[in-house]
Amino acid sequence: MGDAIIVAVANQKGGVGKTTTAINLGAALAERGQAVTVIDLDPQGNASTGLGIGGGDRSPSSYDLLAGDTTIAAATRPTALANLSIVPATADLSSAELDIAGRARRTHLLADSLKDASGIVLIDCPPALGLLTINAMVAAEAVIVPLQAEFYALEGLSQLMLTIRQVRQSANPALRIEGVLLTMSDSRNNLSQQVEADARNTLGAVVFDTVIPRNVRVSESPSHAMPVIHYDPASKGSAAYRALAVELLARRKKENARG
Ligand SMILES: Nc1ncnc2c1ncn2[C@@H]1O[C@H](COP(=O)(O)OP(=O)(O)OP(=O)(O)O)[C@@H](O)[C@H]1O
Ligand SMILES: [Mg+2]
Repeated sequence: MGDAIIVAVANQKGGVGKTTTAINLGAALAERGQAVTVIDLDPQGNASTGLGIGGGDRSPSSYDLLAGDTTIAAATRPTALANLSIVPATADLSSAELDIAGRARRTHLLADSLKDASGIVLIDCPPALGLLTINAMVAAEAVIVPLQAEFYALEGLSQLMLTIRQVRQSANPALRIEGVLLTMSDSRNNLSQQVEADARNTLGAVVFDTVIPRNVRVSESPSHAMPVIHYDPASKGSAAYRALAVELLARRKKENARG
């Protein structure tokens, strides 16, 4: 135990595909036999809903985990998909930042609670760079940054990079950017193509080769409380998230070989 690969899915911009990526990358990795836990660290609770955990069934929650009132083992529950578990979020997580602000280890609470975690842990962050996201970045070894393929995509990225640098300098020197993921791309739209070209020019190899297309099956699946690879295994969205899982595992293999 304690050998978990912890990855935060973060971008302070709202609606860029963080939750969709946490759920569906998680499902695609689980399908490949990896034991995956999604931690819903957003008071909106979208990942919990999307993985079928109803409002009445969310205790113990990620808030309890953060507060040190429960263990990762007790807070984790199975989903309908084999190998895929979730720690759900409740609305009281919205007051967590205030509740923990006075604690000495306020930025390390999640890291402390994940000491005994195992497998792959994907943390779905809220759209902010506050204490919740900082806790995720301190606990994680890497960050995945979803970028919506639209005009303002790159704006706000420097703020995010600055935060990652600060976390590296203060609390977690080993934190890496695992990759920047282009989401909701429309291949018939010139703007999407332009944003992708800009992102690859500006950011280089850190941008995943895999691009997630805009796909209606992806946006429908949460209302059926399941990942898209369960809801419509043959959809383009499913294929893209499967490709992302393969690319992620290959990247990690390469990094490990390099030492
Ligand atoms: N590839 C896609 N194709 C179509 N719709 C998508 C795709 N990815 C995400 N969406 C839709 O876009 C919306 C925003 O996605 P999502 O909730 O994953 O973003 P988020 O970054 O987690 O948002 P928030 O910042 O509010 O947490 C959702 O309605 C989702 O269903
Ligand atoms: Mg979200």
